[in-house]
Amino acid sequence: MEKYLDDTWKKGMKLRFDFNNMMAEFIGPEQGITFDQIKEMEDRLKSASLSLGEMRANGELEWMDLPYTQDQVVKDILDTANEVKEKFDAFVVLGIGGSALGPIAIQQALNHLHYNELSKEKRGGFPKFYVVDNVDPERMTALFDIIDVKKTMFNVITKSGSTSETMSQFLIIKDILKENLGDGYKDHIIATTDRKNGNLIKIAKAEGFKTFYIPAGVGGRFSELCPVGLLPAAMCGIDIEGLLAGAAYMDEMCKNQDVLKNPAYVAATLQFIAMQNGKNVSVMMPYADSLKYMADWYAQLWAESLGKRVDKQGMDVFVGQTPVKALGVTDQHSQVQLYTEGPFDKVITFITVDKYRCDVDIPHGYEDIPSIAFLGGHTMGELIKTEQMATEYALLKSKKLNNTIALPEVNAFTIGELLYFLEVQTAVMGELLNINAFDQPGVEEGKNATYAMFGRPGYDEKKKELDARPMKKENYIL
Ligand code: PA5
Repeated sequence: MEKYLDDTWKKGMKLRFDFNNMMAEFIGPEQGITFDQIKEMEDRLKSASLSLGEMRANGELEWMDLPYTQDQVVKDILDTANEVKEKFDAFVVLGIGGSALGPIAIQQALNHLHYNELSKEKRGGFPKFYVVDNVDPERMTALFDIIDVKKTMFNVITKSGSTSETMSQFLIIKDILKENLGDGYKDHIIATTDRKNGNLIKIAKAEGFKTFYIPAGVGGRFSELCPVGLLPAAMCGIDIEGLLAGAAYMDEMCKNQDVLKNPAYVAATLQFIAMQNGKNVSVMMPYADSLKYMADWYAQLWAESLGKRVDKQGMDVFVGQTPVKALGVTDQHSQVQLYTEGPFDKVITFITVDKYRCDVDIPHGYEDIPSIAFLGGHTMGELIKTEQMATEYALLKSKKLNNTIALPEVNAFTIGELLYFLEVQTAVMGELLNINAFDQPGVEEGKNATYAMFGRPGYDEKKKELDARPMKKENYIL
């Protein structure tokens, strides 16, 4: 699209990062970070940059190149979306973790906030959109109460091709589709998976499903900008080229070799120093309902990438900062009490929006009641922004570290920037912590224990290990 080539337009859409309230000058010397502390990190940041640069050059960080490598796939995705649009009323994603949180976040950010309740015409002819990211039987049953499987396309997404939750969902769906459509069931399933490895690719080839591939070097939580996220987004009419263009723009900013001017490096450094000072909680608090699930996506990215027992040398380190999701202004009436008056253990990251996509006037009324009348004549947009600034001030006053990422507006380009920034920030934080940010051995342990308990062949030893765990005592169960 034209505007993505226009430097002036892009500059207007550039994310702003405000780190003032992380600094000692503002927040005070007991809690705040000094510029000298940041400067002291410069060498470590340079080696982090070198290490990530080398990994990228060796093709180990394929997610970093997604903004440039998806052109062909984008074409196929857009063609597929147009075909699906003609024939189907609903599009259902089957997946979990990185294969679900990104699609949910993007849909919420870039579509109408009541997308599924709109008429087909108002949805631009695109199907309704659902994500089943659990194996809760009630949720699955409820889905069948509202969709017509004969008019539904299912997108099974799994990188490993073997995740129990996703494969169970797939088995259920396939059975129901076969019952209803006979051999035509295969035209209702799209598989998104690894090109070579795992069970799903074998099944997809044998049964003839339309297939999209997750590049080998792209892990679940870093996969939003490949078909994992792009296909579901395109199915709702989202501008996926804009997402990629925004990510590419942020990549340029995050390539800045002057690490102290590089937003991802500075943000990671401040979180790192804060963590050394006991700030073990990272709160993400967007002031926009559209960005509510972006905080869910971030929580997975930050937790699963950085919560690690061992460092790169295999030594026990037990690191990680606990991510917390909050929503402005809603959580001002709940969690913010804790943030302002509770322990000094958090960094709060506000996500703000300069220009909401629409605004609502607050009418005048009850002029005889001053404590209501003062609201009249303003807009909801003004109120939400004012409340964010007021909360920021309350945190500053109580010496609680906070920073702000400001989006000029919420659109595909700025969301692409935000996703990419958070991914790079996470990768840099992984380097500073000297851990592997791209594996998830803690998640694997739970997966393996499930396999053993559910009788998967090859897990007999794990079953024995589980059976040997201490038996629960009745006196501790009330
Ligand atoms: O980030 C990750 O790697 C995980 O959250 C995975 O996305 C999740 O476990 C699902 O895995 P898969 O895509 O292999 O089904």
